[in-house]
Amino acid sequence: MTDPAASATRTPYEPHFTITPEGELTLDDHEAVTAMLSRAFPDYSHWYQGARSWAGMQPELRVVARSGDVVVAHAGIRRQFVTVGETDLLVGCVGMVAVSPILQGTGLGTQLLRLVDAALDHLGVPFGALEAGEDVQPFYRKHGWEPLEGVTGHYNDFTADGASTLVSTDDGWLVRPCRSERPAWPAGDLHWNGQLV
Ligand SMILES: CC(C)(COP(=O)(O)OP(=O)(O)OC[C@H]1O[C@@H](n2cnc3c(N)ncnc32)[C@H](O)[C@@H]1OP(=O)(O)O)[C@@H](O)C(=O)NCCC(=O)NCCS
Repeated sequence: MTDPAASATRTPYEPHFTITPEGELTLDDHEAVTAMLSRAFPDYSHWYQGARSWAGMQPELRVVARSGDVVVAHAGIRRQFVTVGETDLLVGCVGMVAVSPILQGTGLGTQLLRLVDAALDHLGVPFGALEAGEDVQPFYRKHGWEPLEGVTGHYNDFTADGASTLVSTDDGWLVRPCRSERPAWPAGDLHWNGQLV
């Protein structure tokens, strides 16, 4: 999915966004995404090595911005059923949201979340869902993501470091209403029953 009108007026190094199914990524694509993720998440750069462009659940769709051949922004999304309280619910799990450090603060993250919205709509999910650190939550809230107050989320940890043990966290869970309104999100704790993107 690309925007042909935008492509026609773009200068060569102006970031160009695409939404690409995982199965269409080439080895070069994985390597370029991995290189950017290792720079954007320096504390976890040992996760992102070579062509290993994910650290938990492999996404099914990537939102990628490139400047020339260089990946400058990225988000991964995968649909999955989670259990919220007593209800099984389809969500688009969003993760590995990042902008190349040199370009952070220039509005690329805002464009990225706009494309994430489009991708979630394309996937037809009622909600997007993600976990974010306290420092970055204002960024998501500004773009329509809403915190789940008083909710504990349980998920299997990233496996890039070894065994995928169960992790429980009390805050940092945000949802993005897509095909459903926010009140339709059920009450109760959030069980991913697996890993996050
Ligand atoms: C978070 C991130 C994707 C935002 O991208 P960006 O290109 O820097 O964002 P933008 O330039 O579009 O900024 C959008 C707004 O969010 C704010 N914002 C961006 N990052 C923020 C942060 N970490 N904390 C609080 N606000 C933030 C900006 O100040 C800006 O607000 P303004 O319009 O009032 O000035 C980027 O900073 C990044 O890659 N960080 C490292 C990786 C990371 O933490 N990813 C999130 C994992 S959950």
